[in-house]
Amino acid sequence: MKPINIGLLGVGTVGGGTFDVLKRNKVVIARRAGREINVKMIADRDLDKARALAGDDVVVTDDGYAVVNSPDIDVVVELIGGSTIAKELILKAIENGKHVVTANKALLAKHGTEIFAAARDKDVVVAFEAAVAGGIPIVKALREGLTANRIEWIAGIINGTANFILSEMRDKGLAFETVLDEAKNLGYAEADPTFDIEGIDAAHKITLMASIAFGVPIQFDKIYAEGITQLTGEDIRYAEELGYRIKLLGITKRVEKGIELRVHPTLIPAQQLLSSVEGVMNAVVVKGDAVGTTLYYGAGAGAEPTASAVIADLVDVARVQTADPMHRVPPLAFHFDALTDTPIISMDEVETSYYLRLHVVDKPGVLADISRILAGFDISINAMVQKEPGADEDMVDIIILTHITVEKNINAAIASIEALPVVDGKIIRIRLEELSNS
Ligand code: NDP
Ligand code: HSE
Repeated sequence: MKPINIGLLGVGTVGGGTFDVLKRNKVVIARRAGREINVKMIADRDLDKARALAGDDVVVTDDGYAVVNSPDIDVVVELIGGSTIAKELILKAIENGKHVVTANKALLAKHGTEIFAAARDKDVVVAFEAAVAGGIPIVKALREGLTANRIEWIAGIINGTANFILSEMRDKGLAFETVLDEAKNLGYAEADPTFDIEGIDAAHKITLMASIAFGVPIQFDKIYAEGITQLTGEDIRYAEELGYRIKLLGITKRVEKGIELRVHPTLIPAQQLLSSVEGVMNAVVVKGDAVGTTLYYGAGAGAEPTASAVIADLVDVARVQTADPMHRVPPLAFHFDALTDTPIISMDEVETSYYLRLHVVDKPGVLADISRILAGFDISINAMVQKEPGADEDMVDIIILTHITVEKNINAAIASIEALPVVDGKIIRIRLEELSNS
């Protein structure tokens, strides 16, 4: 069969890895795809880098439009990143009738609806396995492997940088800023790591998974995202003492009122498999009504792990190229006309348990006052621990774990408790999920 010709846009970390793996595993990939996959053109603004990688038999340019407009190219692989030139090039490629493979979660979370609609009009595929959890084939698992299930919830460690920082803070007792610098030096965090540490990158990924899982349009504007910048070593240590670990989780859940969509630091039981996911590794747990919980673990970033996902998409494209568009796997798993308008519910309505840390005066009646306020908001206490005060100190830390309650009640209770004269400063509030199989 005729080879499939691809044009690579961007040969940085992922583009370079994709080129290398395609070259190294050319034969086995062709045996699986049923045809050869040839890199015919590369566009990168760093021409020297592109030439050094490509050798003589690949056309190299610094103009992405030369690739997307070339009649020789069947599939455009966008690995530039960002939402400006990447979006324009993808839309142009689609307009020209080319299939697209991308790892660009930021772009799809914000503009996926427009891009998938354009692809549908042109009967081309936009594939994005690498955009969610790097090398882990979670898109394929959700879209195809779990297709018999009503998905109930997904919880994932889907940002390697944040997970690395939390692991190092817990393991070595280091401060957030120290580990962030280490992450930058090791090349895990971006030069501007805001997306990683503020939960935005995880929010992009869980937004895409929610749409695939629940058959709703992509709604990045509705997500609640809270990062790890406010976490202290103290809370990580106290959580540990209570049998929990703190992870930055992306969570989406089908509940009676709609769909929860959120990213935040979360206490999870130490014996949960997710708790053992350390360093830059990613893991996603999916609960389906038929299969129960399934766990997907692996490298969420890096040149070759991400290339593995990009190339899996290329092989899929090679296989479906001749298929009737109506019989392809839809990009968001559900057929376009079967998407529903189930609402994403506001964070106020989310129900979960909470870890609270309060700094209070150590005198009779304080616990009683706090308990009374919690009870007044219908919040039931699961556990309460008073830490030993330091020598000559009359202030103590109190840790409270609540049973499941609604977020607006905990917020109101926190405001009332903070107003007590015996309470010093802000109350630390971290959400807690048991992630049980039920
Ligand atoms: P890099 O910054 O390493 O690579 C991007 C490349 O594109 C660079 O070589 C850059 O050149 C080039 N480039 C930038 N602008 C243009 C342009 N206008 N025309 C042509 N080339 C251009 O990024 P990554 O490889 O890390 O990421 C690529 C995509 O993959 C992003 O969407 C990212 O979110 C996603 N991703 C990345 C993962 C990872 O592990 N790195 C994991 C999963 C997804 P220059 O160096 O000169 O800027
Ligand atoms: N910055 C991301 C991470 C890269 O740390 O997980 C992969 O999406």
